[in-house]
Amino acid sequence: MAKDRDDYTAANRAAWEASAPYHEEGAEFAALLDGFATPGFSCLDAVLTECLEALGVAGKDVAQICCNNGREILSVKNLGGGRCVGFDQSAAFLAQARRLAAAANGGGGIDCDFVEGDVYKIPADFDGAFDMVLITIGVFGWMPDLGAFFDVVARVLKPGGALLIYEEHPIMNMFEPGAGDPMKPVNSYFKAEPFEDTGAIVYDGTQDLPGETQYWFVHKLSDIMSAGLERGLAIEHFREYPHNISSDEFDIYDGQDAQLPLSYVLVARKGV
Ligand SMILES: C[S@@+](CC[C@H](N)C(=O)[O-])C[C@H]1O[C@@H](n2cnc3c(N)ncnc32)[C@H](O)[C@@H]1O
Repeated sequence: MAKDRDDYTAANRAAWEASAPYHEEGAEFAALLDGFATPGFSCLDAVLTECLEALGVAGKDVAQICCNNGREILSVKNLGGGRCVGFDQSAAFLAQARRLAAAANGGGGIDCDFVEGDVYKIPADFDGAFDMVLITIGVFGWMPDLGAFFDVVARVLKPGGALLIYEEHPIMNMFEPGAGDPMKPVNSYFKAEPFEDTGAIVYDGTQDLPGETQYWFVHKLSDIMSAGLERGLAIEHFREYPHNISSDEFDIYDGQDAQLPLSYVLVARKGV
């Protein structure tokens, strides 16, 4: 039987839940615990930090949709964010987020809420609640329904609020760094069916760990821009970058003479 949005979402939820222990046991999580112990710590890179500051993040109410272990929204709070809320459907990753928040500032903690659930079902209590919605690195690919995703973004933004996207460039879906000639495109940019995989979802790309079946969807840049525009989110900034922000296995595409775009920033604003 054909899968619907809920089927894909449930499968991806199980895959992320199964992968969560690998992340909590890794050196990166230990480094985050250490880092957040220092007041004001941020794990955000210079590009995202500059965008947040240009948008005047201080005092703004910010939602991160698909926040994973919360490291980015906690960093936003440390940059001066107002009410900060992270949404994700993985209970295990949100437990890690709460652990990071509680241990931060030498045990004094960071005031940030984490809400568990499917992004498509974010409760109406959050309608019009945020000055800014943040989407980062590896979110759109998990979305079987981009239009419904942007419905939610538009719904939770205040009038005049900004959507800030810092994502991996969808052109990278054409390449497979671990198979054959990694520089040769092997998948269509216009691929309609999702990729299906079974390995654990880890970011260093070097391990071959067992996991649950998961589905990754290809959304073209034009799909992403159009989905926002159709919901009244006017693009006010768009820039492509040559650096990799995805998993480590894509680092081989950095620093090439014939450089591919590897990441991008898009800022769009909801009308007043
Ligand atoms: C790669 S992370 C992106 C967040 C962050 N930038 C990072 O690198 O960790 C993807 C997150 O999306 C979440 N996710 C996927 N589908 C979702 C859905 N339908 N509703 C809520 N969260 C979802 C997963 O649980 C996972 O934590």
